[in-house]
Amino acid sequence: MISVQHLSVSYGAVSALSDVSFVAPTGSITAVLGANGAGKTTLLRAISGLVKFREGEIFSTEVNLKGMKTEDIARLGVGHVPEGRGVIGEFTVEDNLKLGALYAKVNFVHGAAEQYEQFPVLGDRRKQFAATLSGGERQMLAMARALIAKPKVLLLDEPSLGLAPLVTSELMKTIRDLCASQHLTVILVEQNAKSALRIAHNAVVLHLGKVVASADAATVAADDQLRHYYLGLVK
Ligand SMILES: Nc1ncnc2c1ncn2[C@@H]1O[C@H](COP(=O)(O)OP(=O)(O)O)[C@@H](O)[C@H]1O
Ligand SMILES: [Mg+2]
Repeated sequence: MISVQHLSVSYGAVSALSDVSFVAPTGSITAVLGANGAGKTTLLRAISGLVKFREGEIFSTEVNLKGMKTEDIARLGVGHVPEGRGVIGEFTVEDNLKLGALYAKVNFVHGAAEQYEQFPVLGDRRKQFAATLSGGERQMLAMARALIAKPKVLLLDEPSLGLAPLVTSELMKTIRDLCASQHLTVILVEQNAKSALRIAHNAVVLHLGKVVASADAATVAADDQLRHYYLGLVK
């Protein structure tokens, strides 16, 4: 479970998040929706310790993450798949996975075998450079690299960005299945609200750094007014 309480983050004079509170329950998918600049990436970066904050608290189950180092937060079981995927194109699939295992100090051979079972296409391409993968395959690799560390929480920053609709829909199914089979707490940041709401249990809508809605996904999906926020139609 991730609990964000009264979180405010600024970059110098620029306020990126203001008094943000919500709970992402264990074993479920919480979609975080919002237009470009709403503060979605900042929120994930605050959770994983990449951005420091003075106001508010973030808890992973009962552990207060405030002030903790990124690597300690990762070791607690928080996996972060960053915006743009963060895969190293000049490394093979296998070497990208090795980085995930090295960081988490898990057994690579065993961990990689598990990931190749989960994502067979990565097993087929294990000796290929990541740069030669398709967008969907690169997203799978980014997720596998986080999952090899056996996280309890998975933060996904716009996984569908740049993917074709069919690939996006497959990816969403994969995220839903992973969440269910591994009892993961997933925070799914998306500008593609429609796809995210199809698999999410709950949804938080951000607008200019503030929460404008936090409810179950069906309620958010049915609210026409909210659509204006996450589609970026409200200035
Ligand atoms: N490193 C940074 N320095 C200054 N301002 C930033 C930085 N990162 C993001 N911002 C600003 O913070 C706000 C939220 O950005 P971000 O979290 O990236 O939003 P989103 O992921 O929803 O597009 C925006 O106004 C953005 O310009
Ligand atoms: Mg972003």
